[in-house]
Amino acid sequence: MTQTPLIADSLPRAVTWQDGNLYLLDQTRLPQETLIEKQETVEQVFEAIRMLKVRGAPAIGVAGAYGLCVALRDKTALPTDAFMAELEKHAAYLDSARPTAVNLSWALQRMRQRAEAALTSGEAETAVRLYDILVREAVSIHEEDKGLCRGMGENGAPLITEGMGILTHCNAGSLATSELGTATAPLYVAHSRGVSFRVYADETRPLLQGARLTAWELQQAGIDVTLITDNMAAHMMAEGLVDMVIVGTDRVAANGDVANKIGTLGVAILARHFGIPFYVACPSSTIDMAMESGKGIPIEERDAAEVTRFGARPTAPDGIQVRNPAFDVTPHDLVTGLITEKGIITAPYDRTLKTLFGGKDD
Ligand code: MRU
Repeated sequence: MTQTPLIADSLPRAVTWQDGNLYLLDQTRLPQETLIEKQETVEQVFEAIRMLKVRGAPAIGVAGAYGLCVALRDKTALPTDAFMAELEKHAAYLDSARPTAVNLSWALQRMRQRAEAALTSGEAETAVRLYDILVREAVSIHEEDKGLCRGMGENGAPLITEGMGILTHCNAGSLATSELGTATAPLYVAHSRGVSFRVYADETRPLLQGARLTAWELQQAGIDVTLITDNMAAHMMAEGLVDMVIVGTDRVAANGDVANKIGTLGVAILARHFGIPFYVACPSSTIDMAMESGKGIPIEERDAAEVTRFGARPTAPDGIQVRNPAFDVTPHDLVTGLITEKGIITAPYDRTLKTLFGGKDD
C-alpha cells in the first residue's frame, strides 16, 4: 500500500474569513466555474444560504456565524444594548434561511450565548469589544469543525477495507464542511493510508449535489469515483458492487433518527434489503438532543422549478402539481452506526447518544 499525505490543504474551501471579510465559493456554479464571492451584506449571506451557494449542514453553520459578523460590523458605534438587539434581529433572520440542518441554529445560538456571557462577565463593555469576541467565536466554530471532520475521518477510516465499493448520496464532503467533510472524511483518511476502494456517487436529484460536487471533489482528490443516477443504486447493490453506504446528515434526533438529503431513506431501505451496512457520519454540531425523534424535524420544501426543470430546460408540463421536499428522515433502526468525532455509535441510540452527547449545551 502506498501512503499519501492527507490532502486537506488542496481540498476546496466553501467558506473563507479573511481580513474581516467573508468569502463564499458559489457551489451552484460548480463544477464548470470556481467563483468566490465576497459577501458585502447580511442579505447577500442569507440569499447565498437559501440559494445553496453555500450548503451542507456544517458549512451553513459556519457561514451563518460569519454572516452575523457581516451584519454587525457597522454597528460597533451603538451602545451595547442596541448592539445586542441588532444581534438578535439578524441571528433570527439568518436562522430562517433554511430549516432542516440544525447546525445553522446551533451556530447562531452559540454566537448569541457568547455575546451574552461576555456582557454578563464584564469581558465586553463596548460594542467594539463584543464584535471582536463574536468574530473570534465564529473563527472557533470554523476551526473546531475541521477537528470534527478529522475525528470522523479517524474513526470511520478503519471501516474501509481494500477493494470495497462504497455508496454515498448528496455531498457531505469538503464543500459541505470546513475541511475533510463528514461522509467523505473516512474516505480521505483511508485513501491517504493507501487503501484502494471505489465510491459510487448518487447524482442526487433534483439539484445534483452528488454529480456536481461529490464526483468533482473526489475526482480532484484522486479517489476512484463512479457517478450513478439515483435510480441505479438498487441495481449496483444487486450486482454486489456496494459493500457499505456512508452518508452525511443535517440533523440527528435524540433517538438516532437521521434527516438527510431527499433520497437517503430510499438508500437506507435498499441497504437493509441487500444486507449492506448503512453508516451516517455525524459531527456533534449536527446532533439535536432537544429533538425527541425524526417526526419533529422540519423538512424544507423548496421551489417547484427545481423539479420541473433540468438546469434551465423545462422537463414537465406547465402548471403541473409538484412536491419538492429537500430532505427525508431515515428511522434509526435502519442505521448501522453513527460515525462521530467521539467514536462510532450503535443502537440503542437513545442511550448511546445520551451517554456521549447528553451534556451538549444546545
Ligand atoms: O441541500 P444541501 O445540499 O444543503 O443538503 C446537504 C446534505 O443533505 C448533506 O448530506 C448534509 O448536509 C450533510 S453535510 C456534511
